[in-house]
Amino acid sequence: MILNLNSINFTIYPSILNHNIFEPFTFKSGITLDDTIALLTKLKEKELDYIHVSTGHYMQSSIRNPEDQTPVLKTIIDTVGPDTPVIGVGAIKTPDNALEAIKELNLPLLAIGRELIAEPDWIEKVRTGKEDTIRTEIRPEDKDDLAFPDAMWEYVQGNPGWLPIVK
Ligand SMILES: Cc1cc2nc3c(=O)[nH]c(=O)nc-3n(C[C@H](O)[C@H](O)[C@H](O)COP(=O)(O)O)c2cc1C
Repeated sequence: MILNLNSINFTIYPSILNHNIFEPFTFKSGITLDDTIALLTKLKEKELDYIHVSTGHYMQSSIRNPEDQTPVLKTIIDTVGPDTPVIGVGAIKTPDNALEAIKELNLPLLAIGRELIAEPDWIEKVRTGKEDTIRTEIRPEDKDDLAFPDAMWEYVQGNPGWLPIVK
């Protein structure tokens, strides 16, 4: 199915529409948060299975409009309403982060990206009450335990800030 929104075509597979909706931080042109909200207002009528919002931090507010401190995720959740599951992501490291995201944003679903590289047993540790042992930093001696391929290890060393690697 092709959905036409203001002359932009999106291909909709039976259950997944993948469109990057984010506010470009560094470009003066491109879609804005208002554009994203307008798009989501139309999309919510299509009964999507979920919307995944990719932000660097779950409480991140608009970068183009710093006066507006409302988290982008909250704006999106308020826009699409409770019937559309929204997946939030961004710097969720601890169970407290996850709880804050759920409570403060009314977030129905969340994803954990980089923290799962640092702590692949995150879910199991929370489930079994071992939160105190959750690893939130990666040390050189963890490389083998975390099964980092050599090439990936070298690559992330050259891109500081991507992963929480400490000496
Ligand atoms: C190396 C890297 C590549 C990424 N590529 C994409 C991408 O292609 N599309 C996207 O929507 N988000 C991308 N992201 C952002 C992630 O989806 C996510 O928002 C970000 O990693 C924060 O979540 P986390 O702290 O749980 O990892 C990328 C993040 C990283 C670190």
